[in-house]
Amino acid sequence: MSIKRKTKQAEQMVNWNLVFPNQANPSGNMFGGDVLAIMDTTAAMAAKRFSEHQVSTVTVEAVHFAKPIMVGDNIKTTAKVVAVGSTSLTVKSDVYRDDGNGGLMKCVSAFLTFVAFDYQRQPTIVPLLELLPEDEKDHKKALIIRESAKKREEMLKQL
Ligand SMILES: CC(C)(COP(=O)(O)OP(=O)(O)OC[C@H]1O[C@@H](n2cnc3c(N)ncnc32)[C@H](O)[C@@H]1OP(=O)(O)O)[C@@H](O)C(=O)NCCC(=O)NCCS
Repeated sequence: MSIKRKTKQAEQMVNWNLVFPNQANPSGNMFGGDVLAIMDTTAAMAAKRFSEHQVSTVTVEAVHFAKPIMVGDNIKTTAKVVAVGSTSLTVKSDVYRDDGNGGLMKCVSAFLTFVAFDYQRQPTIVPLLELLPEDEKDHKKALIIRESAKKREEMLKQL
């Protein structure tokens, strides 16, 4: 018997943080690992909200630290499911710094893939994604990233 998958729209998660001195690297910028922890948490919340299950991160792809984040910055992190497989979900996450003039500057972006689990920690089916027009570009990027990551895995296994 096949289970009918429900279809739903994804909600964007938004998380604001103030960058403290203990999050700095020796150059005085925000340490990349701390940025990734915030992105991972925000993206996991987006994946959990969409799938209605517990999730675990399986990969973090296409991380781009485009602009530095400084101690004292207000940063805004966004995360939204932009592609789904059967049991996996890919979330686009972006981090922006408040430029102090009412604007936001994008500093970091990444695509994080999660797997949804049932109560026995077995991968479980996620809903189908009803894609919104504003997410089409990120959806296409996520599909390219998922496909190229799969090919890379296969190539690495052959070594
Ligand atoms: C996530 C995990 C259960 C996947 O195990 P697995 O044996 O590969 O499971 P499956 O083969 O059933 O794959 C489950 C899903 O993960 C996806 N997946 C597995 N490895 C992947 C990879 N390297 N890249 C992208 N997706 C991957 C599969 O494509 C599948 O998705 P789909 O159903 O949408 O096609 C296992 O790798 C795990 O427990 N990892 C640790 C997770 C964790 O602790 N995260 C926190 C780290 S900070």
